[in-house]
Amino acid sequence: MDLKIKGKKAIMAGGSAGMGRATAERLAEAGVELFITARRQQRLVDAAQEISAQYGASVTPIVADSSTEEGRHALFAACPDPDILAITIKPPPPNGNFLELTPQNWRDSIETALIGPIELMRHYIPGMQDRGWGRIVNIATFSAKNPMIWRLMSGPARSALLNYTASVSREVAQYGVNINNLLPGMFATEGAGELRETYAAAFGIDSDPDTVRAHFQANNQIPAGFVADATDLAPMAALLCSDLARFIVGQNIVIDGGQHRSIL
Ligand SMILES: NC(=O)c1ccc[n+]([C@@H]2O[C@H](COP(=O)([O-])OP(=O)(O)OC[C@H]3O[C@@H](n4cnc5c(N)ncnc54)[C@H](OP(=O)(O)O)[C@@H]3O)[C@@H](O)[C@H]2O)c1
Repeated sequence: MDLKIKGKKAIMAGGSAGMGRATAERLAEAGVELFITARRQQRLVDAAQEISAQYGASVTPIVADSSTEEGRHALFAACPDPDILAITIKPPPPNGNFLELTPQNWRDSIETALIGPIELMRHYIPGMQDRGWGRIVNIATFSAKNPMIWRLMSGPARSALLNYTASVSREVAQYGVNINNLLPGMFATEGAGELRETYAAAFGIDSDPDTVRAHFQANNQIPAGFVADATDLAPMAALLCSDLARFIVGQNIVIDGGQHRSIL
């Protein structure tokens, strides 16, 4: 399928691993000029080289933490005028007892999962409006819509992000700028793998892989019958970034193998 975005400039903020990297690959395949960010340099540079080699795309790596002003300004300087902005972060750690969460825990969560994406959007939307075309996709989390007691450092801040984008997307759609969110469920990514120790600590279980896997499966009954790969989300992300998505505005699309049962 031709996504009709060949030659456009695209940012994948959080593009060196996981669902961000998989999305970056689909965008590169569609012929965009790509800018990818992450905090850790080596994996980012490697990802840019690999994507460029595989798809023959121009891929610029920018070390930039979206949750800091310094990081955001590094991105703004490197790519002032993108047509496409996709944003993600790594999964925030599972919390233990909710009573032990501190104000600083909440500030960190909000800086990373809410203010970072809002500030990237706020900076880039005016240029997209002036040019009459833009696509913004947040890769957030299904716990924004389906609260989970162990995802308090992820879900509440993303629920606020959904609220923000619900309003802003309706404001900017008249200029050809479309904002939508993807809400992934359980995906076997690099970021998820890095959480094994914290996951075990949060639930007070042994951190050996078999124990953690068994606990995780018991707590996540997925009708599709498997934990997804990053590539299971990327096609939908690329579609929402494309010209074909011109009538899709302010939607929150859950991709979770059917785990959560809400009908809306
Ligand atoms: N994996 C799951 O099971 C799962 C479940 C529900 C929701 N989600 C959500 O899906 C999204 C993607 O998760 P994932 O599992 O694909 O993560 P991942 O494998 O850790 O990949 C995240 C990417 O974003 C980068 N990144 C992280 N924080 C960043 C920041 N502050 N600024 C810039 N780049 C940043 C990472 O590189 P650096 O670390 O080097 O910065 C990496 O390139 C997250 O929003 C997560 O909450 C994931």
